[in-house]
Amino acid sequence: MSALQIHKVLGVGKSEMVHGGPKPRIKTVDPFGKVVSLPPMRILSGIQPSGTLHLGNYFGMMKPALELQTQGEAYYFIANYHSMTSLFDAGQRRQNTLDVALDFLACGLDPKRTVLFRQSDVPEVTELAWLLSTITPMGLLERCHSYKDKLARGLAPSHGLFAYPVLMAADILIYDSNLVPVGRDQKQHVEVTRDIAIKFNQQYGEVFVIPEPQIRDEVAVVPGTDGQKMSKSYGNAIDLFGEEKATRKQIMSLVMDSRTPAEPKPDAEKNVAIQLLKLVAPAAVGQDYEDHLRAGGLGYGDLKKQLFASYWDYFAPARAQRAELAANPDYVEQVLRDGAARARAVARTVLKRARAASGIE
Ligand code: ADP
Ligand code: TRP
Repeated sequence: MSALQIHKVLGVGKSEMVHGGPKPRIKTVDPFGKVVSLPPMRILSGIQPSGTLHLGNYFGMMKPALELQTQGEAYYFIANYHSMTSLFDAGQRRQNTLDVALDFLACGLDPKRTVLFRQSDVPEVTELAWLLSTITPMGLLERCHSYKDKLARGLAPSHGLFAYPVLMAADILIYDSNLVPVGRDQKQHVEVTRDIAIKFNQQYGEVFVIPEPQIRDEVAVVPGTDGQKMSKSYGNAIDLFGEEKATRKQIMSLVMDSRTPAEPKPDAEKNVAIQLLKLVAPAAVGQDYEDHLRAGGLGYGDLKKQLFASYWDYFAPARAQRAELAANPDYVEQVLRDGAARARAVARTVLKRARAASGIE
């Protein structure tokens, strides 16, 4: 049984955690009645401050990650180094970084429990990325879909873009992470991380914990206004905390087919507005609209209006919370600084382990 499976069986990590430094151990009883001592499960994820967050980011990554806060020690960070591979405006990066922090806090990140920090406040991660890069086969990176997709979208093939997964591996490995909640498009990157960790361990001894991705199937890919995967770079996003008028416009621009309202739609479950409505409306409302669309007699305009209303209600508490936090930037900055100090203490011990094992010290 892997450490992660044991964690799953025992539900270890549900108690209040102490952060920073080596993992505290928790005494618990295994399924056979034996007392065992285990470190709590460490959960890690990151998001790039490369634009305004949207519903895909929220349901694909943030919500699952926030729900995991009580299951172990969660470390969530803003990947500002990574954003340098696709965003070249310094002011924008600074602004987006604070916005992402606000978004996470507004959506329920509990800074007493969860470590929230800026990637660059733990510069040790760039050193670990170098150590890892020396054993990373070129072929492993050449196969990455995300790299190929970014080139296809017109990004210049820089070294940073190519080495992106190595820095991501360092992000994950430097905190001894067990579980990495992400959307499906990041699964391959976590697999690359595993390959790199296994190779380093084979070369230099048991240095790294092997992480597992966690992907929620029901929200693996949230569709955008054109039916493709919602993405900041496809111009098809619905913002998480957009301004009322602009977001209504985004939702009313959802692309539908040309069937008349009266026509029955046997494929109602595939309709993008229905898929989104099911994420933000109470289950019975989503089902009602789907049934009505299937039977015929529901116009797309009415469906979109309901979607906007449900979206607006769903995020109303978080929106209010966000406005309060935005008026208090010093508090947000303090949360990020405290998070960095806690994260850095862990990163230092793991980097030391990797340096010692590889003969750097
Ligand atoms: P984008 O495609 O908008 O640039 P990112 O690549 O920055 O988004 O993704 C940040 C996180 O949000 C990742 O974990 C990713 O898997 C998740 N995510 C992004 N878009 C979607 C989507 N449409 N559906 C589900 N998850 C998504
Ligand atoms: N590559 C991720 C994305 O674009 C962001 C990221 C960077 C990340 N480092 C990470 C996610 C480590 C999880 C774990 O969404």
